[in-house]
Amino acid sequence: MSVIERLGLAALHRLDPETAHGLALRALQLGLGPRGGPVTSAGLRVQLAGLDLPNPLGLAAGFDKNAVALAPLARAGFGFVEVGAATPLPQPGNSRPRLFRLAQDAAAINRFGFNNDGAVAIAARLALRGPGLVGLNLGANKDSANRAGDFARVLVICGAQVDFATVNVSSPNTERLRDLQGPAALRALLAGVMQARADLPRPIPVFLKIAPDLGDDDLADIAGVATEAGMAGIIATNTTLARADLKSASSGQLGGLSGQPLFEKSTRVLARLSALTRLPLIGVGGIGDADQAWQKLRAGASALQLYTALTYQGLALVPRILQGLEQRMAQADVARIADIVGTGRGDWL
Ligand SMILES: Cc1cc2nc3c(=O)[nH]c(=O)nc-3n(C[C@H](O)[C@H](O)[C@H](O)COP(=O)(O)O)c2cc1C
Repeated sequence: MSVIERLGLAALHRLDPETAHGLALRALQLGLGPRGGPVTSAGLRVQLAGLDLPNPLGLAAGFDKNAVALAPLARAGFGFVEVGAATPLPQPGNSRPRLFRLAQDAAAINRFGFNNDGAVAIAARLALRGPGLVGLNLGANKDSANRAGDFARVLVICGAQVDFATVNVSSPNTERLRDLQGPAALRALLAGVMQARADLPRPIPVFLKIAPDLGDDDLADIAGVATEAGMAGIIATNTTLARADLKSASSGQLGGLSGQPLFEKSTRVLARLSALTRLPLIGVGGIGDADQAWQKLRAGASALQLYTALTYQGLALVPRILQGLEQRMAQADVARIADIVGTGRGDWL
């Protein structure tokens, strides 16, 4: 991290976290972010559900909910970026404060509740985007009479503008949303989404994002339903409701916990899923360095995403992790990322 970036992060961390995040996005829009491009090499390239990723490290949903900083984020080195969650109608989300920094735990708790500008505004921004792979996280309006139908509605509105979409039934911050992970509800919801996908000018891959707080039976059900429905893969995982051994003052806040304390739990879920399904998996939850990225790949992830560690380490973390992965590949005498996927799954089962 450069001195300027270090000073910038230190200044941001003196502010309320949501204000700091807004300023960071503004700084990116003003061109104050990294100036590289997607980091890539023959070894880092990954094929995922028909997508040709320049490298396996993506930006997780929630960082750029409204697709306002796509060009600067594309320059930060990510292999792909997921924006959203977008809901059919704009909504304000829960009242502030709703984002908490847990610095001693390298973690965060958020209870945003799908605050976003709505699918129409987000589709308009996505239509103007430049190069780089971009996906959209689909959400449901809090007051919707047909929450399951909302996911398909967002896909209809935005689907032509993105390279992939993610059905997010795993946010803990919209009451009862996670109930949609149950097999019957999920089957019906995904059927609606896949119908909407079939009507797109270009049928894009659709992923399912799941919670880390699911038991083994739930995971087996979800893997089965996702496969039958024609999902392109599963993103594991979203934030957790669990709280274990946290040191920070804000650890009792309601909402989803992300960052370091989520690493083990989400990686275990990833490894279990990898034993249950042949669908490609995207590993997310607590990645903060190259070693953890490597562990997720070995646990069964074909690609990765991260968010919370960026708020502590800055965007320079992205090329740092990718360089670290290349070093580990050289040490292990592995030519391609795909060759290590799942090779360490047994350590997590
Ligand atoms: C402030 C914040 C907002 C988030 N919003 C979303 C969202 O809208 N949709 C979603 O699927 N995940 C959302 N997430 C979850 C992340 O995409 C990711 O799954 C989770 O934070 C675990 O990764 P991490 O430990 O690297 O942050 C959000 C996370 C944070 C911290």
